[in-house]
Amino acid sequence: MTIQRTFIMVKPDGVKRGLIGEIINRFEQKGFTLLNAELMNVDRQKAEYHYMELKEKPFFEELVDFITSGPVFAMVWEGESIIEVSRIMIGKTSPLEAMPGTIRGDFAFSKAENVIHGSDSLLSAEREIANFFDPLSICSARDKDYPFDE
Ligand code: PPS
Repeated sequence: MTIQRTFIMVKPDGVKRGLIGEIINRFEQKGFTLLNAELMNVDRQKAEYHYMELKEKPFFEELVDFITSGPVFAMVWEGESIIEVSRIMIGKTSPLEAMPGTIRGDFAFSKAENVIHGSDSLLSAEREIANFFDPLSICSARDKDYPFDE
């Protein structure tokens, strides 16, 4: 088991539907630590860089249009094996395969508008975090002052 950081984003449909609190709650209840978060509009350059691995997919333009269509809630989370665990919590892309109890299984009904994004590897997590956040703005869960209850 290793402590990792990941990039989690509530997509425009999730923000519009008021699911930010529900998603933060699930990650906190799991014991993960929030290191930064921001409600923001994503420009095309940032969106295309974020989804660069999907550039050749027929739905690439549609995906970029969607992510730039309204505010997203971008977050950095830290925890034990969080990349793999968060992908399980998020659930499968297809609404036909996303299991009840997962975020997409409970809230998503389309492959495109599916509420949430989570990094799928350590390399993607590092690239995605750096695309959305200044490294100096990210709290450290291992700082003596954070979390604040000790
Ligand atoms: S793939 O084809 O297996 O690489 O795609 P997948 O891993 O299932 O999904 C990767 C991201 O692409 C989004 N997606 C789509 N967007 C628009 N239209 C269609 N048809 C579509 N299919 C997949 C999907 O929501 C994934 O977004 P992220 O944010 O990475 O989870």
